[in-house]
Amino acid sequence: MTPRVALITGGLTGIGLASAKALASAGHSVAICSRRGDEDELAASALAALNGACLIGAVDVASQTSINAFVTEVKQQFGPPQILVNAAGNYREAFLSDPDDAAWFDQIDINLNGCYRTIRATFAGMQALGWGRIVNIASTAGTKGAAGYSGYCAAKAGVIGLSKAVAVEGAPYGINAISISPTWVETPMMDNALLRHAAATGGDISAAKAALMRSNPQGRLVQPGEIGSVVGFFCSDQSQGLTNVDIQINAGADW
Ligand SMILES: NC(=O)c1ccc[n+]([C@@H]2O[C@H](COP(=O)([O-])OP(=O)(O)OC[C@H]3O[C@@H](n4cnc5c(N)ncnc54)[C@H](OP(=O)(O)O)[C@@H]3O)[C@@H](O)[C@H]2O)c1
Repeated sequence: MTPRVALITGGLTGIGLASAKALASAGHSVAICSRRGDEDELAASALAALNGACLIGAVDVASQTSINAFVTEVKQQFGPPQILVNAAGNYREAFLSDPDDAAWFDQIDINLNGCYRTIRATFAGMQALGWGRIVNIASTAGTKGAAGYSGYCAAKAGVIGLSKAVAVEGAPYGINAISISPTWVETPMMDNALLRHAAATGGDISAAKAALMRSNPQGRLVQPGEIGSVVGFFCSDQSQGLTNVDIQINAGADW
């Protein structure tokens, strides 16, 4: 295994943290970031999960300046990132008839433009070194629609398309790019969505979680480590031909 430098957005929680764990345990240098990267308690718990070995930054993927500053810090501490995992994302319910269109623009900006910005900030470094791995966390929502989720579905479909274009552009330089599309994964994002659902319907979160488990053909919730292990393999030297593809981790579900 060749040790590389890995940058993971949304890396302090959920799927991003699970990906960081897989990459750190494979021997890579890991840099994680999110808007709350400067919150002591959250940073301490992510640091503990990674056995104290990582760089943590407060980064907003809505800002190219914020991303560029962190990439510079990573380069100074570890060297140019050759692995990029885009796990930062947001998920908001909003109907087309709603008067406010902020949820649409916010979800496109964070979920899709955020990936584009971090790729722009790291791609040239990977090209120069002749090896790179880019993983964008999309969703089964990128290939299936749902009422109330136009912004999320469109952003994730965009992430799948962006990943494929990056794979083709990166191929001559040893840069592989994929998207990973999970079904529901048990993370803070899922818990927050279930809390909102429970509040709207007068139910409780444990009943909502149980219903979600029953709706999955495997009768369970996918765990973040299941995504992390695929990220770990993709970012290894054994994945040379694995690129230009969307990998669904769906436990049999369509959404
Ligand atoms: N959980 C699921 O069921 C599921 C299913 C399919 C796909 N996904 C996708 O998986 C990815 C990871 O989500 P998760 O489930 O692991 O939930 P999560 O633990 O809530 O992770 C999302 C992360 O994104 C960060 N983030 C949000 N806005 C950001 C911004 N503007 N700049 C930088 N970071 C930002 C959040 O941290 P801060 O608040 O500190 O910024 C958080 O760490 C997302 O792209 C999500 O859409 C999740």
